[in-house]
Amino acid sequence: MHITLAPMEGVVDSLMRDMLTRIGGFDLCVTEFIRIVDQLLPKRVFYRTCPELHNNSMTPAGVPVKIQLLGQDPNWLAENAARAIELGSHGLDLNFGCPAKTVNKSRGGAILLKEPETLYQIVSEVRKAVPQGTILSAKMRLGFNDTSLAFENAQAIAAAGADLLVIHARTKLDGYKPPAYWNWIAEIKKVVDINIVANGEIWSAQDAVNCQIKSNCQDIMLGRGALALPNLAQIIKQGAAQMPWDEVRMLLVAYSGYEIFGDKGRYFPNRLKQWLGYLKLQYPQAGILFNEVRALKTANEIIPVLNKV
Ligand SMILES: Cc1cc2nc3c(=O)[nH]c(=O)nc-3n(C[C@H](O)[C@H](O)[C@H](O)COP(=O)(O)O)c2cc1C
Repeated sequence: MHITLAPMEGVVDSLMRDMLTRIGGFDLCVTEFIRIVDQLLPKRVFYRTCPELHNNSMTPAGVPVKIQLLGQDPNWLAENAARAIELGSHGLDLNFGCPAKTVNKSRGGAILLKEPETLYQIVSEVRKAVPQGTILSAKMRLGFNDTSLAFENAQAIAAAGADLLVIHARTKLDGYKPPAYWNWIAEIKKVVDINIVANGEIWSAQDAVNCQIKSNCQDIMLGRGALALPNLAQIIKQGAAQMPWDEVRMLLVAYSGYEIFGDKGRYFPNRLKQWLGYLKLQYPQAGILFNEVRALKTANEIIPVLNKV
């Protein structure tokens, strides 16, 4: 089984990727999306989103990282994809699932699931622009308001030359509301001939097994579940025990150290609070901590609290 750490804008940054891949169980990471509108972005944008490019596009634990692009213009996406690969990204992923209103309003993300023809054009232009052998993947939901175009969209992506398709088994309208419709993935798998990765609502080893059975997919992607339970990938692969709270707390302290000494100090309070929001689903202690830091605005105020718990 191959487990990918899901791209999560605003929370799975290079520091989170570093921590989670050190714990183990992940085979691949995908960056937060880089928004492409109407230009070739400067190299520094790629390095900022994916500092791992300085390390052969690997996390320090040696897990490959691929860049994700989000946009609607096939040519600009193609140019930026070529740049990502030239800088060393371990393959390239295209986002056709983002539900954010601002993104959808400018025809990016999940809204493109209304236009299989546009998906085809984007994937084929990107395919042409990247060197042969580049692993090109796309990540889609089952649809925008409904699943009526699920097959057409997957077929368009495959026909245009993608190697791999990640399916988040919900529509945009479903948002993040359970359940994820894993059985839909199995249906899509019958009509496309590329590798498929199943995603959505995997919070435990049992969920992973159920997802594999219902989706008929070996490979899975973990998002919020891996933030709630940092060693979820190991639990799934090796039957490991749930990481004790004390180790999680050490991770939180390490995260704060990284953020302060890295160049993202100003993001730290929000990112930490967001992470605690997921951790509290599995650890009651994280809920208590969340309440204690909720009103704090700087890392300097938050760190002593983390050290004291
Ligand atoms: C806060 C947040 C940010 C996300 N950012 C991205 C993103 O940048 N690109 C993307 O393709 N999906 C993004 N997603 C979707 C996840 O990758 C994943 O498909 C979704 O959370 C379902 O998986 P899960 O149930 O395991 O969390 C995001 C989800 C959340 C909750």
